[in-house]
Amino acid sequence: MTATQVQLQYEVKDLSLAPLGRQRIEWASREMPVLRQIRDQFAKDKPFAGIRLVACCHVTTETANLAIALKAGGADALLIASNPLSTQDDVAACLVADYGIPVFAFKGEDNETYHRHVQIALDHKPNIIIDDGSDVVATLLQERPHQIADLIGTTEETTTGIVRLKAMFKDGVLTFPAVNVNDAETKHFFDNRYGTGQSTLDGIIRATNILLAGKTIVVAGYGWCGKGTASRARGMGANVIVTEINPVPAIEATMDGFRVMPMDEAAAIGDIFITVTGNKHVIRGEHFASMKDGAIVCNSGHFDIEIDLKALEAQAADISTVRPFTQEYKLKSGKSVIVLGEGRLINLAAAEGHPSAVMDMSFANQAKACEYLVKNQGKLEPGIHSIPVEVDQEIARLKLQAMGISIDSLTADQIEYINSWTSGT
Ligand code: ADE
Repeated sequence: MTATQVQLQYEVKDLSLAPLGRQRIEWASREMPVLRQIRDQFAKDKPFAGIRLVACCHVTTETANLAIALKAGGADALLIASNPLSTQDDVAACLVADYGIPVFAFKGEDNETYHRHVQIALDHKPNIIIDDGSDVVATLLQERPHQIADLIGTTEETTTGIVRLKAMFKDGVLTFPAVNVNDAETKHFFDNRYGTGQSTLDGIIRATNILLAGKTIVVAGYGWCGKGTASRARGMGANVIVTEINPVPAIEATMDGFRVMPMDEAAAIGDIFITVTGNKHVIRGEHFASMKDGAIVCNSGHFDIEIDLKALEAQAADISTVRPFTQEYKLKSGKSVIVLGEGRLINLAAAEGHPSAVMDMSFANQAKACEYLVKNQGKLEPGIHSIPVEVDQEIARLKLQAMGISIDSLTADQIEYINSWTSGT
């Protein structure tokens, strides 16, 4: 069999969904002008010719636009899901049917399938890994260290993945360059804050159709995602309580006008609980026990570990699905606790993730990070690298331009002033 006869391998739900996927991918593209420009540049320059690339991302309309840009740049790209519940099946179908991109992802895949797909991704022998949560890199290090030799480097999308990469570096096993996309200003200021803020409420509303005005919403964690979620919940008329373990963001939340208290106290007061901490068991058995009847619990952090569902199960007499992505745990105490999206990130399980306009900048960073790795192949030290500040600034400039917003620039006099130390009082 010649190369052109090789059948495209894939595992998606239903290829007949491709036309709908195409429509939705094109709709998202309208809100992604920066990524569109990068795609057009990639199509000319072909920076990824001969490069095998694996992306482990939420398979959404926005990720599709990233994958299309990378393929336009010549990448031999393969896509898997970074979460069992976040795949948009029509998007996966379209990428396979219309763009010839192998996708291994379907909504509702079990953990075993998820891990099998990670293995398929590694079978692709990637030179670049785009990771969201660091599962592919962690698997490669643990199970296939010999494949490190194939790697130019990796890029990481999310706070959780960066925490894992730092732990790998500390353990001395991160022996290749990793680009920290999450910490680019044009990523976390917008994606983590406004993206998570809006899409988390979107997920809660789509799953439950409840009114948020007048409800007490407890947001666990006041990082960028927590800040966005708390601010948007207040915007919808909720009374917002923040829980924190770090004193500095706790002061920030207080001065932003939120009540701050430990989860032990908040548990009895809240109507809706949203975890966005990145840590495990933020809501535990003792918290469920003190919650109001009908309290709603969900998570928007990367992994499904923030809510201790095993502890909740242990208190339950019965568990039933009352709406899609909405399960009622009837407790032996007689009260109910409602869990959304099985404790997985609710913004992608029940809604469509962050809106395209913020993913435009996140994925512009991803695309440029991959190009940076290729251009600097062999020159970057092992370890975690920031996105170059010029790239971050250029993405911001392009975004502003696309939004039709102009800004001032420094006069020669001002440049001289900020570069001198002699003129004070
Ligand atoms: N993470 C959060 N929202 C997302 C989206 N819309 N697409 C891909 N990854 C995401």
